[in-house]
Amino acid sequence: MSLTNRDGFSGKFGVIAAAAGSAVGLGNIWRFPYITGENGGGAFLLIYLLAVVLLGIPVILSEFVIGRKSQANALGAFRKLSPGKPWWLIGLMGIVAAFVILSFYTTVAGWTLEYIVQSITGGFHNKSTTELADDFNNFTASSFRPLLWQLIFMLLTAWIVFAGIQKGIEKYTKILMPLLLIMIIVVCIRSLSLEGSYEGLKFLFKPDFNKITAQTVLLALGQAAFSLSIGMGALITYGSYIRKDTPLIKVSTDVALADTTIAVLSGVMIFPALFALGESPAAGPGLVFITLPKLFESMPAGEFFAVMFFILLAVAALTSTISVLEVVVAYLVEEKNMSRPKATIIGAISISITGVLCTLSFGPLKDFKIFDKTVFDLMNYISANILLTFGALFIVIYCGWILKKQPFFEELKISEKIHPILANILFFLIKYFAPIAIGAIAIGAFFIEGLT
Ligand code: PFF
Repeated sequence: MSLTNRDGFSGKFGVIAAAAGSAVGLGNIWRFPYITGENGGGAFLLIYLLAVVLLGIPVILSEFVIGRKSQANALGAFRKLSPGKPWWLIGLMGIVAAFVILSFYTTVAGWTLEYIVQSITGGFHNKSTTELADDFNNFTASSFRPLLWQLIFMLLTAWIVFAGIQKGIEKYTKILMPLLLIMIIVVCIRSLSLEGSYEGLKFLFKPDFNKITAQTVLLALGQAAFSLSIGMGALITYGSYIRKDTPLIKVSTDVALADTTIAVLSGVMIFPALFALGESPAAGPGLVFITLPKLFESMPAGEFFAVMFFILLAVAALTSTISVLEVVVAYLVEEKNMSRPKATIIGAISISITGVLCTLSFGPLKDFKIFDKTVFDLMNYISANILLTFGALFIVIYCGWILKKQPFFEELKISEKIHPILANILFFLIKYFAPIAIGAIAIGAFFIEGLT
């Protein structure tokens, strides 16, 4: 695609829908509750919220500025803005991150498809939590169905990316995201009405700082980066499709707000039910796939809600996977001169190869471990806590120290008025606070405590 005929979003609402579509996904509804559950609840949530406001919003904004200013893909953006310098390596790391994320993300996204079928065929009917847990473990440990679903999911992703930005991505997110929010609220109400649910709310909202280590802070930061889709250039790529009259600060805060609302509501949906059922919050990746079916079982018209919920969850995952694949495709199209269809096919096939290993790591490959982690766990861990975290670090360093204040705000001022105080706070966060905070957390977690 040349500069003049690059595809683009139609306006502010389209961008918000697509960027929020990228942000809201399995990260909020599947990953956030189980990571919060494993890491002590309230205190983790508090650190997570601080990370979103103080680090997340500045990074979203930085990515949008880099993207819109350069009008290029994640790697090409740095090449254009800083020709002849090695900053494009940040983009390259983003492309690696896209591979890693899609590999394990499509495994879980595939599970959501299985759960749509299960809820249609009454597969949760009259089952105890133990039976639901057994079902989950048996399903994920098998090979054929999880692999089939994963590949179907990858095909769906490729199909939308194939169709291009405006026709594909925007159309789907605009309608389905608000519907997902309504569904989550309905399930929250049911969860809160169960006897004993208060303990769950306490777990989620009452901080206990005894359990906090540098490693936990890194996990909260990694989760925030993962959930907001920052640190790998997805938002640089989307930023390059944003029109010059779209206000970037407003869009950034709206996206962060939408994403965080869904994450917190997912916590409110899961933890009260979990405590009411007497289950452990530290159940790991199976958490929502066991708790939610039980919750639907206890609801009037539960089967209907279950079907709707898993469909919307799959759609939320889809609007995220397309943004990840788009990073790879935009790179191949613009830097390697491939046609969009060819780039999409090559990207999807090569990612599926590592994807298969992730899916099999619940079954045949469960004893194959690297750093004491299965392939799935390793990809899941390094994507958020290493690739996205360091990606975010380099992006703020780039904006604060290389691009510098004036060119940064020049891009923002095209589309909105910024109060000088706000500008100073924002740039302070980008130039000093974010690099120091992310750097300190990473050093604490890796060099002082060691990788766990
Ligand atoms: N933010 C997505 C989620 O929460 O499910 C996952 C994701 C999408 C991460 C795009 C990174 C990314 F670039």
